[in-house]
Amino acid sequence: MQVRSALAARKSVRAFTEQTVDPVTVEKLISLAGKAPSGTNAQPWQVAVVSGKAKQRLDEQLIAAHNRGDEEKMDYLYYPTDWVEPFLSRRRACGLQLYTTLQIKREDKARQFAQWQANYSAFGAPVALYFFLHPKMQTGSFIDYGMFLQSFMLAAVEEGLATCPQAALGQYPQIVKRELGYPEDSILICGMALGYEDSTAKINSYRTPREPAATYTRFFND
Ligand SMILES: Cc1cc2nc3c(=O)[nH]c(=O)nc-3n(C[C@H](O)[C@H](O)[C@H](O)COP(=O)(O)O)c2cc1C
Repeated sequence: MQVRSALAARKSVRAFTEQTVDPVTVEKLISLAGKAPSGTNAQPWQVAVVSGKAKQRLDEQLIAAHNRGDEEKMDYLYYPTDWVEPFLSRRRACGLQLYTTLQIKREDKARQFAQWQANYSAFGAPVALYFFLHPKMQTGSFIDYGMFLQSFMLAAVEEGLATCPQAALGQYPQIVKRELGYPEDSILICGMALGYEDSTAKINSYRTPREPAATYTRFFND
């Protein structure tokens, strides 16, 4: 598969079939992602692959915390506290596209809550990945991590697998670290759903738009 085809085909998938993913395949994807560059070749990634009973236990704890209305401090701020344009409009459009596809009305808070909660079971994917960073590492490692994550997702496309990167899976870092036995001070970057796309699910039927490159690119040549 050409890189451009994998780039074009990758999308966030939020409903999966029950087909399990061979651990050998997951290991292969992680090894391929590990080819990503990183400053001084530090390779700061630490990956937890969670499936089966371990996933069920963790999902249950995350869902229970969400049901109780518990909130934990994330290990870092993924989103701004004060959204400004043009990002605010894009963010709203992103949510609207999801809810319109699922025909969830603005006032239907119960369905919105349920849809958001699906995040905490990695949308029912057979595998959830959790990505950690050593607490001594700095902002630069987040750049490295982005490359690792995208590499993983593109390699997954080639294997016929689907993914959804999930900041939501970083919202209860204490629960995740306690359950998986990672040090309390490690940084939970995010999670990711991995599995085979349920192509009959409505939620997977839309594609998100992108700004034309010309709107955010400037060429300088003299
Ligand atoms: C680091 C990261 C975290 C994300 N977190 C979530 C999430 O918690 N829940 C979710 O449904 N989608 C999440 N997304 C998916 C984005 O909404 C999605 O990438 C964006 O809308 C573009 O759509 P596409 O991935 O289908 O191209 C996340 C994406 C990234 C890169």
